[in-house]
Amino acid sequence: MIPKILLLAVLAIFIAYLYQKWQANEDIYSDEIDKSIISAWNASIKLPSRRFSRISVGVNSNVDLIVSGIQLLKSLKVLPGNQQNHNILTTVEDFEETFGFFFSKGMAAERAFTVPDVYNSIIDVADGLPEKEYYIGGNAALMAEKVVSLHPDAKVQYVGPVGPKLRELMPPSISIPELSNIPRDEVHLIMEYSVGDTWGNLQAPVANRFISSFDESNSKMTMLESFFMSLESFRPDLIIMSGLHLLEGQTKEFFNEKIKTLKDRLHAVPKYIPVHLELASMSSGSFLEAILDQVLPAISSLGLNEQELSFASHSKGGPHSEEYLARGQPEVHKIVDMMLWLLKTYGQTKQRVNSKLTRVHFHSLTYHIVGVVSDFWQNNEAALSAGTRIAGRQACDVESLNPEEVDLKIPMQFKLFSGAAERKFNQNDPIISWDLEGFHFVFSPVLICKNPLKTVGLGDSISATGLMYSEFVPRQ
Ligand SMILES: *[C@@H]1O[C@H](CO)[C@@H](O)[C@H](O)[C@H]1NC(C)=O
Repeated sequence: MIPKILLLAVLAIFIAYLYQKWQANEDIYSDEIDKSIISAWNASIKLPSRRFSRISVGVNSNVDLIVSGIQLLKSLKVLPGNQQNHNILTTVEDFEETFGFFFSKGMAAERAFTVPDVYNSIIDVADGLPEKEYYIGGNAALMAEKVVSLHPDAKVQYVGPVGPKLRELMPPSISIPELSNIPRDEVHLIMEYSVGDTWGNLQAPVANRFISSFDESNSKMTMLESFFMSLESFRPDLIIMSGLHLLEGQTKEFFNEKIKTLKDRLHAVPKYIPVHLELASMSSGSFLEAILDQVLPAISSLGLNEQELSFASHSKGGPHSEEYLARGQPEVHKIVDMMLWLLKTYGQTKQRVNSKLTRVHFHSLTYHIVGVVSDFWQNNEAALSAGTRIAGRQACDVESLNPEEVDLKIPMQFKLFSGAAERKFNQNDPIISWDLEGFHFVFSPVLICKNPLKTVGLGDSISATGLMYSEFVPRQ
């Protein structure tokens, strides 16, 4: 008689074999779905009949300096002391203690220096390290870079704080007027560490990064007036702005003053020149409210993600106001409800003829949606497809997507908005368009890169790409 244990072992091996076969089949099946989505994008993406040709971008930029955290601390001859978090950094000791605090936990963190001298001396040491990398940083500079890469024939002007290093890094085809010059770059120091790295008696449990900065121009938006001044001679047909979120560290008076200036300058921009604003993560509800109430009616197009959208809805009493606390991927119908609310509340409607807002471009990890006031924007399907396709391409850092390197993570059944019927996702028709209460919406899933290499500035790339494939048709 065969021992029971042997029988069980054989059975276990057989089940494992079946499972593996099923898994392989699943992979082939999901690769097929990915491929049909890529084909659908390819078929849908076409340039609009009238493309933007003069694009003005501003106003936040910096240089990202990436170094090994431990190498830098060794060069600074700093050893770990107390591990203690400081919300703002003023001394080398604050810096050392805060780094130690997050390093020993393996937690990502970002802290600002309030005084330049200490920070600059740290940067000088980091700059002297044999191994370091410099990159373009800041949403606006990244969007300018994306726009010229997509559309090399276009004239692109960038205005924002540009020091000597950033000028070197920016593509030479971008025109940067002299009024952008600052004597010393605003550097964001990114200290990377790997799992198991040791510093004194501390050891990193996981790989992560600690970011510190001292921003004068960005945090005070000093280039705002210069930006609007430069528009007169440049005569853009599209304006792209970002950097408002960086004002959060300022006093309420300072912030309100800047917002008022921005609002006045935006209202002076002729209606036939669309202005896109890219939002970024904010933590102050009252600052966000001021941006919504005062800036939104003065811009044509808004780019944002689920955190910003749900925080806006929460701050202003919109639908699904508890969604901003939710973890995980947001449900499609909730996002559409909130976009519809945003367009109805701030967009150009019969009740609000003076508002300029006619487009909202939403991007999350797993899907994107664009909502426009019908007829103001054309080529929306192509624009949204181009934005979703670039998300996977840039994250994987490839020219063309390979189905094996990406994953689809949307539910296979969902509603397009509250009150709509559930629908099955159709891989052969993945880009969905519909009209709702005078607005036109387009949905497309994202193919998420399994092993992402480049995630910095992904939202900026998505929004810039969507704009370059869009056509603005102002009403007379
Ligand atoms: C999509 O287009 C790219 C070129 O942009 C091409 O390399 C790729 O093979 C196409 N993929 C599919 C599935 O049609």
